Amino acid sequence: ESLPLSQRLLGRIRDVPDFPQEGIVFKDITPLLADPGAFSDLVDALADLAVRQGATAVAGLEARGFILAAPVALKAGLGFVPVRKAGKLPGPTLAQSYALEYGTAEIEVQRDAFAPGSRVLVVDDVLATGGTLEASIRLIRDAGAQVVAVGLLMELGFLGGRDRLHPTLDGVPMEAV
Ligand code: PRP
Repeated sequence: ESLPLSQRLLGRIRDVPDFPQEGIVFKDITPLLADPGAFSDLVDALADLAVRQGATAVAGLEARGFILAAPVALKAGLGFVPVRKAGKLPGPTLAQSYALEYGTAEIEVQRDAFAPGSRVLVVDDVLATGGTLEASIRLIRDAGAQVVAVGLLMELGFLGGRDRLHPTLDGVPMEAV
């Protein structure tokens, strides 16, 4: 209880070696989600970021980002917008492709997802290489909205995601709890 918030939350993430592939240490957030105190502290911290940055909408990245972004949006009194893997949203949509370690991925957002002048908090659970977030930020901007902050549960520093995102963020704050 007396531990700082970030340590308390990170202590609820389970490292799973060799999942989903050999050599990858998967960050399993399900123990955190199963703990209502930790889950609500995380949601409160991200909602506070939304309020501090004057966000008018919260975007979540499929799938684990959805679990966090939806309660954050409600807590901040804002609407929720899903950034989805390609082929899931009815059109018209905008798309962005990005490179994975092997092959490519594509994500989409609905073209009219954001009201004109929207200020968006982007929420996801884990920053790894930054590919997903980079494509998501581009997509949200393509849809005519301004990204005012990125809120994360955790950042895997050794993969260089923050450096990769530096030019794309262009001064937009990105905070891990
Ligand atoms: C994970 C995670 C982030 C992304 C981070 O999602 O939730 O969205 O990868 O990786 P990156 O920084 O290298 O792009 P995943 O694609 O596993 O999908 P899921 O949330 O549907 O499990």
